[in-house]
Amino acid sequence: MAETVLLVGGGGREHAIARALEGGDCELYACAENRNPGIARLAAGFETLDTTNSSAVTSYAEEVGATLAAIGPEKALESGVADALNEAGVFAFGPSSEAARIETDKAYQRRFMREHEIPGCPEFETFEDTERACEYIDSSDVDLAVKPAGLTGGKGVKVIGDQVTREGAKEYLRENDYDRVVLEERFVGEEFTVQAFVANGSLRVTPAVQDHKRAYEGDEGPNTGGMGSYSDAALELPFMTEEEYREAVRILDATVEALDDYTGVLYGQFMLTADGVKVIEYNARFGDPEAMNTLPVMNTAFLDVLVGAREGEDLPQLSFAPRATVCKYAVPEGYPENPSGGTRIEVDEESVADAAYAAEAEEDGSEARLFYASVDEREDGIYTTTSRAFAVVGIAGTIAEAEAIAEDALSGADEGVRIRHDVGTEALVQKRIDHANELRGE
Ligand code: AMP
Ligand code: GLY
Repeated sequence: MAETVLLVGGGGREHAIARALEGGDCELYACAENRNPGIARLAAGFETLDTTNSSAVTSYAEEVGATLAAIGPEKALESGVADALNEAGVFAFGPSSEAARIETDKAYQRRFMREHEIPGCPEFETFEDTERACEYIDSSDVDLAVKPAGLTGGKGVKVIGDQVTREGAKEYLRENDYDRVVLEERFVGEEFTVQAFVANGSLRVTPAVQDHKRAYEGDEGPNTGGMGSYSDAALELPFMTEEEYREAVRILDATVEALDDYTGVLYGQFMLTADGVKVIEYNARFGDPEAMNTLPVMNTAFLDVLVGAREGEDLPQLSFAPRATVCKYAVPEGYPENPSGGTRIEVDEESVADAAYAAEAEEDGSEARLFYASVDEREDGIYTTTSRAFAVVGIAGTIAEAEAIAEDALSGADEGVRIRHDVGTEALVQKRIDHANELRGE
């Protein structure tokens, strides 16, 4: 084998990365806090360790003779795992802890945007004092998004006028007394994600994806890490124009230009508003679930991206199968607020296999895939943790077909887990289209 790749992280995103490397000229090793059975099956070795412990990750990389590393989770990036691997001579596809601040420090992120005049930045202020922040909320005559500056697993933001009232926002800040918070103009619109591979100053973009952050059907309930997502057979989504997609790409381009020497995935979270495309945030890694939409339809080998990045080359031009995808997550009961971790669950691989068999029989490139996420494989079975458990992805010519395949694959999965069955349905996609048309005044 030409390369030995160490994959860091044990969620659905990392299972998708492992699948994207399968069949390439590389041997895979993986490390994570949980033993992800999907990744373990594809890897020559799997080590359970704390992925924020740089020296533990680096020791394992050296032990297995890794020539490349792909880092999934933001917490590992924040704690400097990419820096440590690079220092040890293992090329890490993932930004340094300093460069990852574009995600891990939302105050820095907004100041960076302002300083470099990156389009799509909201009006914002940063605060180190909770009472000052509360005064600002009282004095502001627009709705605000309240954001703790540090990482919160996608669950820390509260939007006034959407999830909380002004009073509720102040209560939230006083209860948590964060060290630093960002208060910014609330955007109203439709959210979407565009992920890009970045290395050696070049940038390669992937199709837009829409995630569903809210816990319950109909976009109700608290924010989660993401309950499911879809992408279309084109680069843009049904509620967007090609030009709106291109605007998001221009913003990513401007961001990469301003970032000094960034390596890894740059994830842009955008909001299509009445005023054009705005930036909700950046992430310094693949999205989870978005990686499960993107990597299965990428024709270009992910290994070629990793090797090109290491060799200082321009990254390969990417090609994608013209296929829509719908990803639905199964999460523990009570997730995200009171997740019932530590429960043994049956993951019905047979239903997925049957759905995959039926989809493939269509002979049009349709597929069904299962991705294990934050579950732990023990001797007597698979146990949930307090995070998302597993996901299925339907892949087909249209979103509606992909959605039907995902549902077919999930037919055996309901016990002990919760699923947002509305993700990717025609009704919900139409709601997005109507909303975007309304924003444009159409
Ligand atoms: P984040 O943790 O930054 O991904 O934010 C979580 C969610 O909060 C986003 O997916 C949005 O739905 C919402 N959000 C963040 N910033 C804003 C904003 N400026 N306006 C409206 N919603 C926002
Ligand atoms: N899907 C949102 C995230 O990965 O942060």
